[in-house]
Amino acid sequence: MFQPAQIEKFKQLQTPFYYYDLELLRKTLGQINNYGLSKGYEVHYAIKANFNFEILDIIRDAGLGIDCVSGREIERAIEAGFRPDQIAFAGVGKTDAEIRTGLDYNIYSFNCESLQELEVLNQLAGDAKKTANVSIRLNPNVEAKTHKYITTGLNENKFGVNVEKLPRLFEMLPKLDAISLTGIHFHIGSQIKDLDPFVQLCERANAIQNIFEEKEIVLQHINLGGGYGINYEDPDNEPVPDFKSFFEVFDRNLEIRDGQQVHFELGRSIVGQCGSLISQVLFVKEGINTHFAVIDAGMTELIRPALYQAKHRVDVLTSKKEKKVYDVVGPICETSDTFRKGIRLPGLQRGDLVAIRSAGAYGEVMSSGFNLRDRVKAYYSD
Ligand code: LLP
Repeated sequence: MFQPAQIEKFKQLQTPFYYYDLELLRKTLGQINNYGLSKGYEVHYAIKANFNFEILDIIRDAGLGIDCVSGREIERAIEAGFRPDQIAFAGVGKTDAEIRTGLDYNIYSFNCESLQELEVLNQLAGDAKKTANVSIRLNPNVEAKTHKYITTGLNENKFGVNVEKLPRLFEMLPKLDAISLTGIHFHIGSQIKDLDPFVQLCERANAIQNIFEEKEIVLQHINLGGGYGINYEDPDNEPVPDFKSFFEVFDRNLEIRDGQQVHFELGRSIVGQCGSLISQVLFVKEGINTHFAVIDAGMTELIRPALYQAKHRVDVLTSKKEKKVYDVVGPICETSDTFRKGIRLPGLQRGDLVAIRSAGAYGEVMSSGFNLRDRVKAYYSD
């Protein structure tokens, strides 16, 4: 995937660093346009996946809105030139200050995650003499078939309001005069490769819409969240996720009412494949059953392997030697600071460069200062 000239440039730079292929990002957005936006679907980019301005600029220019989960993310989106009427704001624990930020900007939608949050929002909106547009996040109890830490749509998960609580919502609504309920919102989880959970989500959403209609509540929009997965095993074979199949699930299974807008909040599938973490081999150590390749990037730069047992592809950029079995590990004082165990890679030596692939989403943004590590730089193909 990396050309020799590119690798020569990497050799001049201080490792570790993030590298973003902006051409691939543009290509990915092109497919979202072809199969999603051009059919009338609205897509809000989940800014939590990667909030670098260079990336946000391209996403904004492609006509996407934005999905935020904190007050700072709202401010970041505004700084990056997104309009307030493109901002949806979700999150189970919005502080009063964050809610006020959303109210100050008159954002498109507060995606409220509990009945108590609705009461607080109503109070704060009333104080500000405003009406807040609300989409209620519902927990559809759909199994997303992904890692349990990134499953969000089951009864046992903290997110959204359980559908069983809808009668209470309908009782409360007439009294909440600083709130306008404009839509419903779902998000069942992340890194979902199998499309079947999205089919089930459509079925649940159809049934739930009927409940609102029985109460004569018109839903101007329905937001199906994000969650579409990427190919971590073989990114070069699938650099752009299959958005045609993704959007077709909704074309086929979602019952859209006249004039209703359908929204999505995609994060990983937009930026995941365009980013790599480039690192250098510090030491190669003989183990009992393996060789340890100790690299200069660690869980402080990319926590996904340690946190979700994620397997990112590791490409060796500077060796074509005979293959050996390696554990690729970082320098941090944690055994979980391991990128891959027991993989066959071209023979490595001190100074070799490796690329940890598919790191554009939830990579740089989740980095930490553990062990007093510095934040690493980002470089862009442009
Ligand atoms: N909407 C809401 C309300 C969300 O909470 C999320 C992600 C998204 C949209 C975007 O989901 P995506 O399309 O990116 O799957 N750090 C984890 C992923 C956490 C996802 C959190 N919510 C990881 O590295 O796998």
